[in-house]
Amino acid sequence: MSQHHFPPGPPPIKGAIAQLRFLSDLTKDFMGFLVKNHELYGDIFQFQIGNMRQYVITDPDLIHQVLVAQAAKFQKDSDYTDTKRGLARFLGNGLLTSNGDFWKRQRRLVAPSLHARRIEAYADTMVNYALDTVNSWQDHARLDISEEMRRLTMRIVGKTLFNADVVDDVEDVATAMEVIQHYFVEGRAMLLPTWVPTPAERKARQARRALDEISYRLIQDWKTTREDRGDLLSMLLMAEDEDRKHMTDEQARDELVTLFLAGHETTANALNWTWYLLAQNPEVEAKLHAELDTALAGQPPTLADLKRLPYTEMVVKESLRLYPPAFGFSRVAMEDLEIGGYFVPKDTVVAITSFITHHSPQWWDEPEAFQPERFTPENEAAQQRYAYVPFGGGPRVCIGNSFAMMEAQLLLATIASRYQLRLQSGQVVEMLPLITLNPKDGLPMTVQQRQPVAVPELVLA
Ligand code: HEM
Repeated sequence: MSQHHFPPGPPPIKGAIAQLRFLSDLTKDFMGFLVKNHELYGDIFQFQIGNMRQYVITDPDLIHQVLVAQAAKFQKDSDYTDTKRGLARFLGNGLLTSNGDFWKRQRRLVAPSLHARRIEAYADTMVNYALDTVNSWQDHARLDISEEMRRLTMRIVGKTLFNADVVDDVEDVATAMEVIQHYFVEGRAMLLPTWVPTPAERKARQARRALDEISYRLIQDWKTTREDRGDLLSMLLMAEDEDRKHMTDEQARDELVTLFLAGHETTANALNWTWYLLAQNPEVEAKLHAELDTALAGQPPTLADLKRLPYTEMVVKESLRLYPPAFGFSRVAMEDLEIGGYFVPKDTVVAITSFITHHSPQWWDEPEAFQPERFTPENEAAQQRYAYVPFGGGPRVCIGNSFAMMEAQLLLATIASRYQLRLQSGQVVEMLPLITLNPKDGLPMTVQQRQPVAVPELVLA
């Protein structure tokens, strides 16, 4: 192994003041930092802050090495697992933040509820909630679409996975989510101990309390009947380990909060960026409308209709390429190893930046163009594997990917059949890369009715 062959990168940042300044700049323009260094140093580069060495990889083969071929030598890093400053502070030891045998067991437990077959039963709920959303819209209203999408996806996760209409909890969860996203990014630049009651600290504690309150309430509600409702919450609480012990309330809380947050924020952002792209690309939008009008004739989509909506699926996939909601995720090396001919010392953090890979002219012609045709079955088969990783890959691939794809297509089909979403002339929406890729300052858009269609009676219970 080439023990001392390290990837290129900017000079190490030494000294507390320089490090603070660097972290603060990074927080302000994280994406700019990645793009600039990728241009300067290529598909694998490193940066060093004090003793911390971090690699960034954008090459599909290297991504495959980390996520699949050498997956057993990597774990989730402290950005996820640190219970003081990482995601685990809020999510606890849930699927997204746990490691090792514990993670394996929990993954086996949750997987059946999100299996492609199982989620088919969720299609009607998804469409009904989408209809409920558009029914509340008024023609020509200007709305913050990011709020609409967040509310919609949150209600869908609540209903499908926990059998709860969480409409009353939407504001609390939304506030908690915002705090978590900022804390995760800005918290890295904070060097104060967490017992110092700064405003950020107080907000973080409040967010954790709100999530606890909601999840323990759902757990207690289930315990009043202990009935197998066939939903994920029942499965979690009824599952027994080898010693016939049930999961503690705390562990159930961690999984519940994880799925609740991971299961709505990403899909909401996928839809946000899809609306943004459609508004800017009238030819794509016209094709989408033509497919929806022909296949659905004004009726709400069903699961069976998805087969007849290939262009809708291509639009979603292309939007996930240009704006991958999980634009970057990372691992830590558990031992000394090698990738791409470079030495990776134990404890090095390796970040996979799907955003850069998805925009690289090495793998995509005209990478900035919104061209759903890239995802016809033939074109998709010709793509470089791991040049497209919106859901990650390997053993820790997104457990909700089928759920998310089905949901995004059904919601897009339901809403786009009825409404066209418009930007104001000259309106530019900037990216805000937090844990997920958000539109900065929300997504104000005007909703215009496309055609008056009879919306059927809704049954949401
Ligand atoms: C468009 C929507 C979504 C995107 C882009 C997305 C993306 C991702 C990515 C990239 C990962 C892997 C992160 C890593 O390797 O470190 C991941 C993991 C995960 N996702 Fe998703 N996700 C989406 C929707 C969902 C949904 C709907 C759910 C649940 C209902 C979900 C639950 C999870 C969980 C629990 C994990 C952790 C899995 C594990 O480590 O075993 N996601 N997601």
